[in-house]
Amino acid sequence: SPKNRSIAGLLGKRLPTDAGKLLHDLGTVGDELGLAVYAIGGFVRDLLLGVANLDIDVTVEGDGIFFAEQFAARHGCRVRSHRTFSTAVVIFPDGAKIDVASTRLEYYESPGVLPTVERSSLRHDLYRRDFTINTLAVCLNGPSFGRLTDYFGGQQDLQERLVRVLHNLSFVEDPTRVFRAIRFEQRLGFHIAPHTENLIRSAVRMNVLNRVGGLRLLNELIQILREKEPVGAIVRMAGFGLLPFVHPSLKLLPEIRRVVEETGRVLAWFRLLYLPDACEQWQVYFLALGDRLTNDEFHDACRRLAVPGRISTKVFSHRRQALGTLDAIQRRLRRNPEVRNSEIYDWFHGLPLEMLLYLAARANREEVRRFVSQYVSRLRQVRCSLDGDGLAALGLAPSPRFRTIMDRLLVARLDGEVVNDEQERALALLLIASDGGAGVAKTHH
Ligand code: CTP
Repeated sequence: SPKNRSIAGLLGKRLPTDAGKLLHDLGTVGDELGLAVYAIGGFVRDLLLGVANLDIDVTVEGDGIFFAEQFAARHGCRVRSHRTFSTAVVIFPDGAKIDVASTRLEYYESPGVLPTVERSSLRHDLYRRDFTINTLAVCLNGPSFGRLTDYFGGQQDLQERLVRVLHNLSFVEDPTRVFRAIRFEQRLGFHIAPHTENLIRSAVRMNVLNRVGGLRLLNELIQILREKEPVGAIVRMAGFGLLPFVHPSLKLLPEIRRVVEETGRVLAWFRLLYLPDACEQWQVYFLALGDRLTNDEFHDACRRLAVPGRISTKVFSHRRQALGTLDAIQRRLRRNPEVRNSEIYDWFHGLPLEMLLYLAARANREEVRRFVSQYVSRLRQVRCSLDGDGLAALGLAPSPRFRTIMDRLLVARLDGEVVNDEQERALALLLIASDGGAGVAKTHH
């Protein structure tokens, strides 16, 4: 078929040299074993789109585990195999991984030839997949290296920028594909094809998403909220009526949409700081989405998503603390707009980064955003140079005063009362000599 063109040139041009060599190596081992080997799925989709993706998935017509073991033996890799699914992961010495799947489980008598039955088994394998754009396969075997197999019009849909299912029962068979459709559409700047959109709507009407387990639902949500620009996907989820499957009260009201969009800006700001600590973007968006949920509703949403109790209890209490803090800040600002650094520190320390960024996004006041910004970029790193041993060396006998003096020293550091180690030491000596240090500690709160 003319649709099955060769993209060997593209493989050579668009991939780093070692990735290209790796594909040839996979093909060579396939040749030696008489097995047809294909690169498949997202890797091929992105290659044709010119999007960087070195996440190579391989499908073998035959025993994929056997192929993985043979490849690993020749290239010094390790293999982790899953017999039940006939899949294996090849792990390279540098930690890089390749997923290997099998189109069928049995051996055929003459592995050297490629009878039609084998090709139709690749087709059968591809037919089980989610969208046409994910059904493209590139042969890696020497003689046919780079031959593109396109059974379901994937190339045309890539060209027309469409996300399209292969058959009408796709979403009923696997309701998580509803989320995947949105994720691909938004990430690639595609459109979900009209008929596919209708199938999503009828799947939603049939409540098929109630059949999806909490962990799988959470996983789909996390993947969407981890995308580079998830706001479009969130709007789309709301448009299809997917949010109530997480919690009946979850809706994208205009004020929530504002918080969600603000989250994007806050995260962009945070990334510009190039801080070393990773921030779980999806958690910030999740908090933003749940902005108007009551504490109980938020708890229920976590339960629906099978968030482990240990984690949801923590998130829950942090969220309560954070929202309480925001109220306290508003009240405090009404009294007096002058705020000391040590107060900011007091408000925010103990809250995870994600919660702080959420607070910055949901706060209506510019000041609050500035406080979060000061805390995140500067104040949370402030430390005293003296520790407990340092205080003991200055003559403080073991007592509860250690804590109060340490707190007082940190306040002095934060508010610029002491600006170097020497001044800190002098203040420490003063506090140790003074009556208990209890009086000075009061200024902290
Ligand atoms: N797949 C599917 N149905 C699902 C999940 C996955 O049919 N519910 C298929 C898709 O065809 C996909 C392949 O399995 O191409 C691999 O899945 P995954 O790694 O999630 O897809 P990628 O396309 O690689 O997505 P991403 O770019 O986000 O990694």
